[in-house]
Amino acid sequence: MTTAAIIGGGVIGGGWAARFLLNGWDVRVFDPDPQAERKIGEVLANARRSLPGLSDMPLPPEGKLSFHTDLAEAVAGAAWIQESVPERLDLKLKVYRSIQEACDPDAILGSSTSGFKPSELQEGALRPGQIVVTHPFNPVYLLPLIELVTTPENSPEMIARAKEIMRGLGQFPLHVRKEIDAHIADRFLEAVWREALWLVKDGIATTEEIDEAIRMGFGIRWAQMGLFETYRVAGGEAGMKHFMAQFGPCLSWPWTKLMDVPEFTDELVDLIAGQSDAQSGHHTIRELERIRDNNLVGMMRALKAQNWGAGAVLNTHDAALKPRALPDLETADLSQPILTLSRAVPLDWTDYNGHMTESKYLEAFANSTDRFMEIIGCDADYIANGGSYFTAETHIRHLDETHAGARIRVETQMLLGQGKKLHLFHRMYEGDTLLATGESFLLHVSLETRKPCAPSSEIEAAMARIAEAQAGLPYPEGAGSAIRKPA
Ligand SMILES: NC(=O)c1ccc[n+]([C@@H]2O[C@H](COP(=O)([O-])OP(=O)(O)OC[C@H]3O[C@@H](n4cnc5c(N)ncnc54)[C@H](O)[C@@H]3O)[C@@H](O)[C@H]2O)c1
Repeated sequence: MTTAAIIGGGVIGGGWAARFLLNGWDVRVFDPDPQAERKIGEVLANARRSLPGLSDMPLPPEGKLSFHTDLAEAVAGAAWIQESVPERLDLKLKVYRSIQEACDPDAILGSSTSGFKPSELQEGALRPGQIVVTHPFNPVYLLPLIELVTTPENSPEMIARAKEIMRGLGQFPLHVRKEIDAHIADRFLEAVWREALWLVKDGIATTEEIDEAIRMGFGIRWAQMGLFETYRVAGGEAGMKHFMAQFGPCLSWPWTKLMDVPEFTDELVDLIAGQSDAQSGHHTIRELERIRDNNLVGMMRALKAQNWGAGAVLNTHDAALKPRALPDLETADLSQPILTLSRAVPLDWTDYNGHMTESKYLEAFANSTDRFMEIIGCDADYIANGGSYFTAETHIRHLDETHAGARIRVETQMLLGQGKKLHLFHRMYEGDTLLATGESFLLHVSLETRKPCAPSSEIEAAMARIAEAQAGLPYPEGAGSAIRKPA
């Protein structure tokens, strides 16, 4: 098991701890705050309900979490050390000295700093080459971007290893090749923040109106195409050149206040805090975090279906997890129901009753049927060659509740697999609890004629193997049932 040390377990350190832990790393936390354990516990609870379900594959079993009062003990033998102490250079440099006196020289020491350049963090260090900036975004357990900022002190081997580890955590390392204050993303955020302060101070807009201006329009656009690709499209058929010719001149108009910052008087702080209370004060911060996480998971899973942006990163992570997730015809114990789905319940599968919504049981069982088809040889290549299965009938029984983040699995018994007929019985479990059953009857078809026909001899042979192996299984209770007519 690989170990990460989290030095500073506040908002950001807690998010890193959750990211490592839920991806199977052991995590050791060092933070002098007596409240650190409680705070990390709350971040972890949010992460557990949102992160595992982002993936359509099971994440590895959770690692072990421990809290340490001795920094040297926390970092000894750790492969990754993530520093997320308050944003003060003198404090960070002092912390690096203590870390480097006790840690493995090969460990990667990443800093969450939002503003400092890696060369500033490396100055006077015992081993400057060990320190990089790995700047995350809140919530660290959901957002993939990490700005990896390096200097010539960092070896190419170490940079490659850092990237590989972050990808293994489902993150997207963006290598910032030339260091600069506040890296890339926070420079934008600060420009937008400056402008928003002016708009509120000058009485042009309230905090709520500014948030509406972002989330009803360009915010959604940015989340999927960013800035330049969005503007390229906005330029119409003539593309980017046209866009620049059209909007270039307005850069010299007084559209923005550029570098001026309004003075942070008590009056301005009260104005903004008051407007923010009026806008959002009816929710606690924990409630707002949950609303944010629900929305982020929904949007990222929608992007996943498009294999685009953050969604493409999630798909790549799933592809890396897949090989050890589910058995195939050769590795499965064919005498038992076969594991055809193993995953966590995603946030967007739950409904107003607070549990998994009924249409998602069908989705889960359909995924299991797809996996069973793959196991018997009806995979993407076979389908591209013109044969497939169509579902003729499905019957689902809901037996117990399940909730966001729960690890569920489906085991599939083949009741009949002969000629064009395929009759499957799926059982969905959480641990030992049977949650639901799904029975499906499918017919093999030609995609050309859209009519039933016999499958390939390989599929027939695979079905015969499973039929023989599963012949000893009892016929499932509940199979072949229907909703009874009231007496
Ligand atoms: N908040 C954000 O949105 C955000 C985003 C990206 C990066 N960052 C960066 O992450 C870092 C931490 O920010 P945060 O928002 O989590 O702050 P925070 O105040 O929530 O957490 C800082 C934690 O560090 C602990 N700490 C203080 N001295 C320490 C020491 N000597 N050793 C170990 N722990 C110590 C504190 O007890 C606290 O729990 C900063 O460098 C910040 O720039 C913040």
